Amino acid sequence: MDIGFLLNGEPVRIRPEPPTRTLLDWLRDERGLTGTKEGCNEGDCGACTVMVQDDTGIRALNACILFLPQLDGKAVRTVEGLRDDAGDMHPVQKAMVDHHGAQCGFCTPGFIASMAVAHANGQTDHTDRLAGNLCRCTGYAPILRAARAAESAPVPQWVASDASSGRKYPGGSAAGGSAPLLPRSSDELAAAYAAAPEATLIAGATDVGLWVTKQLRALDPVIFLHRVRDLQQIEDRGDSLKIGAGVSIARLWPLMAELYPSLGELFRRYGSVQVREAATLGGNIANGSPIGDSPPPLIALGARLHLRRGEARRDIALEEFFLDYGKQDRAPGEFVEAVTLPKHQPGFRCYKISKRFDQDISALCAAFNLSIEAGRITAVRTGFGGLAGIPKRARAFEAVLTGAPWSEDSLRAAAAALEQDFTPLTDMRASARYRMEAAKNLALRYFHEIEGRETSVLKVLP
Ligand SMILES: Cc1cc2nc3c(=O)[nH]c(=O)nc-3n(C[C@H](O)[C@H](O)[C@H](O)COP(=O)(O)OP(=O)(O)OC[C@H]3O[C@@H](n4cnc5c(N)ncnc54)[C@H](O)[C@@H]3O)c2cc1C
Ligand code: FES
Ligand code: FES
Repeated sequence: MDIGFLLNGEPVRIRPEPPTRTLLDWLRDERGLTGTKEGCNEGDCGACTVMVQDDTGIRALNACILFLPQLDGKAVRTVEGLRDDAGDMHPVQKAMVDHHGAQCGFCTPGFIASMAVAHANGQTDHTDRLAGNLCRCTGYAPILRAARAAESAPVPQWVASDASSGRKYPGGSAAGGSAPLLPRSSDELAAAYAAAPEATLIAGATDVGLWVTKQLRALDPVIFLHRVRDLQQIEDRGDSLKIGAGVSIARLWPLMAELYPSLGELFRRYGSVQVREAATLGGNIANGSPIGDSPPPLIALGARLHLRRGEARRDIALEEFFLDYGKQDRAPGEFVEAVTLPKHQPGFRCYKISKRFDQDISALCAAFNLSIEAGRITAVRTGFGGLAGIPKRARAFEAVLTGAPWSEDSLRAAAAALEQDFTPLTDMRASARYRMEAAKNLALRYFHEIEGRETSVLKVLP
């Protein structure tokens, strides 16, 4: 199957074989574009960041976990293609020179690509924008100074011409293996997956990419989901939102920040810009990870999961999807279509505990959703990640609170019941004891936050 895209302004048509060949390998090995660096090869360091544009926007993505078919119909710019129309350095390149933003230079092309994307989009929250780019020598202050200095410089013209030209060069959805590789609708996807239920679905590839680059797995057949536009819809149903499985975490972040600020904060700390732009809600749920960030809050919100297999559809409470470690309630050929969640849950809060603030998977994620009437707790839903082999509700905790008075004593009694709900493990992220202690403390933090007290250590300390 051929795919087509623009590379640094030039049309390219290639046959990606295997379809899980990464953009980074192809750029460096086939095109000699070695400006884009390989650091970690697992989405963590940002050395491989490139600019990718399509009719939905301009994004910074990690080329090491981006498969070539994901570029079909898009425009890619590497550090070699950022010069302005007069042939001079891009404003962010110039600013990096002026502000001494590089030493060994290994990270620099990735920083430049992230900065060029933020510059083109007019984004000035530089610490968030650059959290996915790691530098071991320069220190971040000069880099941030450079990003700020370039803010008001004009955006090179090629940014607009890439936007209009990229979509002229798509390849097709011709057959690859036994199933169409690039379905364009959920009907096509349902038919393709029913015909090849052994296929690996690839949405953002922020998990699957690592199966290829780290576990060296040969995946065949594969079906890419990124062109399935109806999986990318967000439907406002008045009291609830129906969010397609293909909606990225980057798109969800501002939406959730408005409805549920604590969930917005959790998504702000989800991976990095590059990861959030690629990762989808469906992938974050379907992977069944016990430490995925979206299942605990969505379970506490009472989300429902919509699944489809061929023409058959069903929906279940999200918590029912997670059966056991590595085992989900998903039949062969069945895929996640969407998630529905309520829009107004004033008693909802969620918390992520991780070793690093940014770009780190949770050691523990806790979400609480209580209804309180006339001083009594009338309904309780929780969601916890990192305490068991699956994301789970804490039923003993919920039972202690249901009907109890709204008080610190009730929360303390319920926190003690978490010992019945969970037997956490010790691993590299946290010890079992730490996890349990932190979960109990988060229950108390929830109480104090709802009471309107300051709980952030960062804000309390001078
Ligand atoms: C550097 C880095 C940082 C990360 N940080 C975080 C973090 O902070 N929090 C966090 O939760 N995760 C994090 N992750 C993990 C990852 O981003 C998420 O799990 C992500 O949401 C997966 O989504 P995806 O679209 O990339 O899925 P993919 O990698 O494409 O797929 C993941 C799995 O889901 C399946 N799948 C995808 N879509 C569907 C569908 N619609 N129906 C059925 N099956 C489907 C795939 O077949 C595969 O088994 C991080 C990953 C990296 C590389
Ligand atoms: S090489 Fe580190 S993110 Fe790609
Ligand atoms: S300049 Fe050396 S890693 Fe950043």
